[in-house]
Amino acid sequence: MRAFTHALFISQFSHVAIATPTEPRSSPGLCVKSCESSLQSLRFFDASPAASSSQQACQSRLSLSSRYLCLGLNCGEETRDQALRHLNATCYDSFGSFIPTFKTDFADEEIAGLRRIHKNDSFGPANPLDGVVIPSPEFFSVWFDTLDASEYARRHHYLYGIGVMAFWIVVAFVGVSHKAYLAISRMYCSQNRFTSVGIRSHTSSWFKRHVTIPATFGYRCAQNVWWATVPPRIQTITIVIFLLMNVIFNIHGYRIIDESLYFSTPTKQILRYVADRTGIISFANFPFIWLFGMRNNLALWLTGWDFGTYNNFHRWVARISTAEAIIHSVLYTVLIFMNGGLNYYAWWFTMWFWNAGQMATIFMCALLILSMYWIRRRFYETFLVIHIGLSILILLTMLGHVSIFNGEYDALFWAPAIIWIFDRMMRLLRIIIFNPGQWSTTALASYDDSANIIRLTVPTDAALYKPQAGNYFFLSILDDSNSWESHPFTVASISDQMLQKMEGSEESLPLLSSPVATPETHSQYTALEARKEHMTFLIRPYDGFTMRLRDMLAEEEANPRPLRILVDGPYGHTQRLHEYHRVIFIAGGSGVVVALSYLTSLCKQMETPTKIDLYWAVRESAFAKDVLSSYMLSTEVKAAIDTGRLSLQLYMSSQLESLATDTLPSRVQQHIGRPDIGSVIIAAARDTQDGNMAVVACGPAKLADDSRLAVVNALKGGNHHIDYYEESFAW
Ligand SMILES: Cc1cc2nc3c(=O)[nH]c(=O)nc-3n(C[C@H](O)[C@H](O)[C@H](O)COP(=O)(O)OP(=O)(O)OC[C@H]3O[C@@H](n4cnc5c(N)ncnc54)[C@H](O)[C@@H]3O)c2cc1C
Ligand SMILES: *[C@@H]1O[C@H](CO)[C@@H](O)[C@H](O)[C@H]1NC(C)=O
Ligand SMILES: *[C@@H]1O[C@H](CO)[C@@H](O)[C@H](O)[C@H]1NC(C)=O
Repeated sequence: MRAFTHALFISQFSHVAIATPTEPRSSPGLCVKSCESSLQSLRFFDASPAASSSQQACQSRLSLSSRYLCLGLNCGEETRDQALRHLNATCYDSFGSFIPTFKTDFADEEIAGLRRIHKNDSFGPANPLDGVVIPSPEFFSVWFDTLDASEYARRHHYLYGIGVMAFWIVVAFVGVSHKAYLAISRMYCSQNRFTSVGIRSHTSSWFKRHVTIPATFGYRCAQNVWWATVPPRIQTITIVIFLLMNVIFNIHGYRIIDESLYFSTPTKQILRYVADRTGIISFANFPFIWLFGMRNNLALWLTGWDFGTYNNFHRWVARISTAEAIIHSVLYTVLIFMNGGLNYYAWWFTMWFWNAGQMATIFMCALLILSMYWIRRRFYETFLVIHIGLSILILLTMLGHVSIFNGEYDALFWAPAIIWIFDRMMRLLRIIIFNPGQWSTTALASYDDSANIIRLTVPTDAALYKPQAGNYFFLSILDDSNSWESHPFTVASISDQMLQKMEGSEESLPLLSSPVATPETHSQYTALEARKEHMTFLIRPYDGFTMRLRDMLAEEEANPRPLRILVDGPYGHTQRLHEYHRVIFIAGGSGVVVALSYLTSLCKQMETPTKIDLYWAVRESAFAKDVLSSYMLSTEVKAAIDTGRLSLQLYMSSQLESLATDTLPSRVQQHIGRPDIGSVIIAAARDTQDGNMAVVACGPAKLADDSRLAVVNALKGGNHHIDYYEESFAW
């Protein structure tokens, strides 16, 4: 890859150096600037020695005549007159007086006799010129080429900086169009929605099989490869295109000339232009790094893609931006060493903008290293705190770094800052509308030791919205020592299903640990659950937040404990699973909550009923028992089980004595070991040949990857109407 980009660099530059299309005077602006630059360093004796060069340009008649002639000879009369009118106005603005009348009528012989200024001529204050002069054509040309090359590069800096941002706008637009297309085809095909056959379904199946569903390479997607995760193929394709675009934008769009008055050698031109380009593009990537890292993110709302997708984009844009920042810094350092050695280099450290830039690059590198998969997984909270702290430092140092440009690049500081503030405000707003006027919400939590699961019941009656299946919420516990932590959890059930369940079966109250529950427990839960609308979370304890929560609850034995919590939600999209003939949930452990969250509404839907299969691999029998007895008792779910519309397949490590058949609906099937996801999905796909089918995976990474691969194989196997949904519990 390195050799490749290196080769690209060389060919790019040699190509440009040979084919430089210089058409001097074609650009009036550059022509005028070339005359100004050619005359800039000269001193004329009719200006006061103390005058600045701009004062001299406004007051010295010799300077004015020289400029008049240069403009007339090189740029044409129209441009000349316009430039002088402009100068006249500027001079009035700056010094309060118009330019004096100066000699403009020069005969040709007279012009031929005027002194020509060459590149090395020096007429400083020590030996001012005593007559009108003209830059030699070569000198003028060198200036023109110099300015032209620099203008050309600058234009491309700008263009390509916009380009990397436009890329994501196009990507989001594709996402929105696809969503609109799906919505429209749903509207038109609502009568016969299961029978879209023909070329369209074949192309869409090909696309799903080869582009949208598979892992980038074969199998691993949710699981890590070495110390990283590889996104699904469609995301990888997007990221690779973006990467290539960044590479091209960094090496294309330069005019390298043999002789430049700004740079002594072509190497320095390359160094300087590429350094500027990488710096600008790196910074131009900032707004999207921030946007894609936010929970409340406009792109996510528009496209309907999940947070995990944007999180992958977030990481890759950040990596590319950091690489560009490093190149920017290294090239500037090399350039400075070439220009003035160590002492000159040391001098740059006396400037704040320089130091700020150095710090920004260092912070970006640190941030990248400290976001490694391993650190993210092992020390999530530490990762998060460092991530936020360093991001703030990077934004501030970048603002300092671009302070020398008088605000030209400040928008790239403000955009991320505003995106960030917007996200925080939205979180606050979401917390407020969940329980207006109250701020925090009192939830009931209990921990069941044998099931190793925490159950959290949150009243939702005050909320200004109604939680939907598949939603997840970020919960903070104010009674916890780290009350600022917030963690995502999927809603396992939403109250009306509970209420109906209680109507249906008086004797089995929705208690996690019914056998040990004391009467008070009963009354507390029933009081909450019967009176108020609520939602329930099932939380598996791990090492951090969830472990502290467990410890807090373990002291209370089985009694539910009231907890003050903040509820930031709802997030996540409710998938339109009811539109499928058949839905297969592949769940592992606590991942079953995703299936639970959809079950009731799926079972409720009566016209064109969806057939549902739940394959659930679970280690703790007590957990399995609890879920089956507490969350699958609504009349609809029971009816669905009884009629065979809902099939439940439990996979446990050993047969469960305690899961006595009387407590279980008879149709629940128990298996030992792990489900063979491949054959399960292939068989279901064959069964559902004429209809469409959704596979929803939620659980450990391996289970998700198995499901993904199985769906790809089933699509190859001939059923073209399979969609795959993965609800990941880790980003
Ligand atoms: C969309 C979504 C829905 C989820 N729903 C449920 C659910 O219904 N039930 C359930 O038991 N678990 C759920 N999880 C997982 C749950 O969020 C984590 O287990 C929990 O955050 C771990 O906290 P901890 O401090 O104890 O973790 P640690 O032991 O410190 O870490 C365990 C793992 O969780 C990850 N993690 C930690 N904090 C976060 C965070 N704030 N955001 C994302 N990942 C994190 C870590 O990377 C690590 O891999 C869900 C996760 C996501 C992303
Ligand atoms: C400068 O502008 C003023 C006001 O428009 C005008 O009177 C004057 O002639 C101009 N000078 C020259 C040299 O054009
Ligand atoms: C200008 O000076 C440099 C050295 O300082 C010399 O190499 C070059 O040939 C000179 N150019 C002209 C046009 O005299």
